[in-house]
Amino acid sequence: MPIGIFDSGIGGLTVFKSIAEAFRNIDIYYLGDTARVPYGNKSKETIIRYSAECGTFLYHNYKIDALVIACNTASSYAYDVLKRILPIPVVGVVLPGALSAVRVTKNKKVGVIGTTATVRSNSYLQAIKTFNEGVEVYQKACPLLVPLVEEGWIEGTITEAIIKRYLDEVIEKGIDTLILGCTHYPVLRPVIKKIYPQLNVVDSSDGIVEYINSLGINTEENAVRHILITDESPSFQTLKDLLIGDVKTEKIELSDLCSL
Ligand code: DGL
Repeated sequence: MPIGIFDSGIGGLTVFKSIAEAFRNIDIYYLGDTARVPYGNKSKETIIRYSAECGTFLYHNYKIDALVIACNTASSYAYDVLKRILPIPVVGVVLPGALSAVRVTKNKKVGVIGTTATVRSNSYLQAIKTFNEGVEVYQKACPLLVPLVEEGWIEGTITEAIIKRYLDEVIEKGIDTLILGCTHYPVLRPVIKKIYPQLNVVDSSDGIVEYINSLGINTEENAVRHILITDESPSFQTLKDLLIGDVKTEKIELSDLCSL
């Protein structure tokens, strides 16, 4: 009984890695829309259309029993749409991430970093307020962090300077917890912790693993791991090798995705 995961590109491999490690016997199909990445600077309508195409493609072609929207931008805009159009459980990254942060914060001050679109959507703000109205939320779009990770610049003085430039103003608000509201940012967790060791750093993978567990999906011996991409990209290869090593990758035609 397979699970589908999609992301705008390569960043969702951080979520793939957590799920693959937690569920060694579940078939996993990952779709990275590398031809159309980034989603984070697109309009709401475009993000919803692309996300619906990715989810529908996985459902029709791989008979998935649950869909994980690994992309924060897609989760922020297309979660409700995908839940409505697909007859299977759908989980995004926003709710699990918000819930983890609400559980972890002691002083009820939480920072959220993400793409421009994710921050503009206020999805994390709304989710956190749903769980606990009293938590103060400080958001910051950090658009340079995605290209940094894709370049493999995950440490060093330039990376630290950019992180500080974005984050110092959020830290000054007195937050004790920071949500990494973008698929690429977990790779930067060590350098963020190095600069701000006192901070609780939350990403959504833990909550997602918990959620999938609750679905009670049947497991298989020798589970399939299959990665689909809509365009070949050297940075995909680099991040894939860094995160998950040797997993079969197949290029699919963007026109197949759009024709459903
Ligand atoms: N996957 C996106 C996210 O988590 C980051 C990359 C993009 O902008 O598409 O928001």
